[in-house]
Amino acid sequence: MRIILLGAPGSGKGTQGEKLAAALGLPRISTGDALRAAVKSGTDLGRKARAAMDAGDLVADDLVVEIVEERLAQPDASDGFILDGFPRNTTQARILDALLLKKGLPPVEIALHLDVDDEEIISRLLARGLEQGRTDDRKDVIRCRIRVYNSETHPLLDYYAAQRKLISVPGAGEVEEVFQSIRLATLMVESGLA
Ligand code: AP5
Repeated sequence: MRIILLGAPGSGKGTQGEKLAAALGLPRISTGDALRAAVKSGTDLGRKARAAMDAGDLVADDLVVEIVEERLAQPDASDGFILDGFPRNTTQARILDALLLKKGLPPVEIALHLDVDDEEIISRLLARGLEQGRTDDRKDVIRCRIRVYNSETHPLLDYYAAQRKLISVPGAGEVEEVFQSIRLATLMVESGLA
């Protein structure tokens, strides 16, 4: 199964993506994690990406596409994947569609949207900023990330709705409760009921 996770910063894509990956036996591919690892190890990619990440902006499309293309070429992604944080704009979504087609792989089946309001997002990310010190979990940067999400990524809900692939799940509440809603939605698609 090929699933992409959509949602504002802090909506729970990483948390739920890990649980879903374990439940489905699929790799979770997070562009945010890959970029943070590149920044930490000081690679050329990390150096190019850092300023945009620290500001809460999107990293250039060609840099993230390269990450995704390389990762999708690995054998464990051939039977499916959970993409967390990619695509993040319609250019990336079109590139992903073309990439899968070029590789002879089936298209994305589910675009799973975690719906969480801004107040909850800000409180989650400020709490994580205090606990873990992620450089983009500062109030001014969080506000920028939300703005960028609304202008660049939110239009993808229409993109995938038009393809009848969008499933929106309430992302507030207990982690396990959110996961059960996600699991139900994926089971319905697997069994052809949705
Ligand atoms: P990325 O790492 O993807 O950041 P993000 O989208 O801002 O998402 P987060 O990781 O902050 O949140 P999440 O939705 O994964 O939620 P999480 O589970 O962590 O990207 C970082 C940056 O990289 C971007 O800003 C951009 O610069 C760049 N980038 C990445 N991909 C890119 C792309 N494709 N194109 C261009 N640039 C790209 O949860 C958040 C917190 O909430 C955690 O503390 C968690 O424990 C808590 N939490 C989760 N669920 C719940 C719950 N149900 N109740 C209470 N707390 C919860």
